[in-house]
Amino acid sequence: MKVNDDIMETPVLGADRFFKLMDDSIRGLREYRLIETALELGVFEALKTPLQAGELAERLGCDPVLVPHFCEALVRLGLLDSFEEIGEAEEELQVEESDEKAEKAEKSPVSPWYVNSELSAAYLLKESPFSQQHYLSEKFRNVALWARLPELMRKGPELVEKGPFFGEVISCMAENARCGLLQETVRTVMENVDFGNVRKLLDLGGGHGLYAIAFAKINEQLEAFVFDLPPVTVKTKQYIEKYGASNVDVIPGDFFKDELGTGYDLVFSSFNPGGKVPELIPKIASALNEGGVFVTRQVPEENTESNPLFNLDWNLWTFEDTKKGGTGYCFENSVPFNEYVGMLGDYGLEVFRTLDMKEGSRMVFARKVNKSN
Ligand SMILES: C[S@@+](CC[C@H](N)C(=O)[O-])C[C@H]1O[C@@H](n2cnc3c(N)ncnc32)[C@H](O)[C@@H]1O
Repeated sequence: MKVNDDIMETPVLGADRFFKLMDDSIRGLREYRLIETALELGVFEALKTPLQAGELAERLGCDPVLVPHFCEALVRLGLLDSFEEIGEAEEELQVEESDEKAEKAEKSPVSPWYVNSELSAAYLLKESPFSQQHYLSEKFRNVALWARLPELMRKGPELVEKGPFFGEVISCMAENARCGLLQETVRTVMENVDFGNVRKLLDLGGGHGLYAIAFAKINEQLEAFVFDLPPVTVKTKQYIEKYGASNVDVIPGDFFKDELGTGYDLVFSSFNPGGKVPELIPKIASALNEGGVFVTRQVPEENTESNPLFNLDWNLWTFEDTKKGGTGYCFENSVPFNEYVGMLGDYGLEVFRTLDMKEGSRMVFARKVNKSN
């Protein structure tokens, strides 16, 4: 028999790196499945008031052996709080004041109580004003797309229809914006624009319209318009109604084909897929009054280029009429954001401020120069 004598040989490259890579990715997957399952089972809705694992298992129709482990894992993620309380049985024992029995009670394992943490109460409960329900649904759809990675790798990106796609995305973006981005953006615009003199505003590709709504709430003299695709503006109207913004209206249209209107003092464009497309610049310039301001926010390429996983994700799906352009947030008809900003001057839009925002986006302010100057 041939003797294999290489048992004491080790790989040249230490195995730690390999196992850490695998362990880290699997831990991420497990944590994701834990959260997704908790939402699917209704754990957070059930734990608005504290429950012990046994009662929770009964209410949700789940396995009583698994539920305590499940709850502890959610505690570790910061999504549940746990606390120990003396159970009824132990209380009875204490009333009897029998030393022996009290000692027994002390030793008996106390089953902890679980309740939503501040984090889950703020973002995961349906009735919270900061609920991220649509954001979560969007993430679940994305994970389902990644589950089909082998198929997509073979047949290419999934084709997505613009109207229904954006109709979903804007609810998710509205939820995200409500958690700080909206407030920070509105403050930044007001610090950099003479807002008191703005009478007519266009929120280009405004989707949910929350930016236009917030501007219109602050400046009641303002007439604000949200320009977006017709199926999206149906939803925009619901947001306008929700916030009772009587000075905001919608303009349904396709900014690549339709006119934007005229006489605007401010054109605001945030994370707009046309926000790096040079053919839209002359349209924006002619929609503005002289002295009017164009504010545009995009994620510059340097903040996405070095993220291949994100770029792969971006390229897993595409629109029929406007194909993706390689790296994240780029389309075939767009140019790098710096190049786009450099072109604004060619159409009389003079850049007067560039601000890098904390979430990786850049806001650029340009004024339409007065022809007589
Ligand atoms: C990523 S969302 C941004 C929404 C919002 N501005 C924000 O920052 O939260 C892009 C928006 O542009 C709109 N949009 C995309 N293509 C468009 C087109 N050709 N004409 C008009 N709106 C368009 C989408 O419907 C969507 O509401």
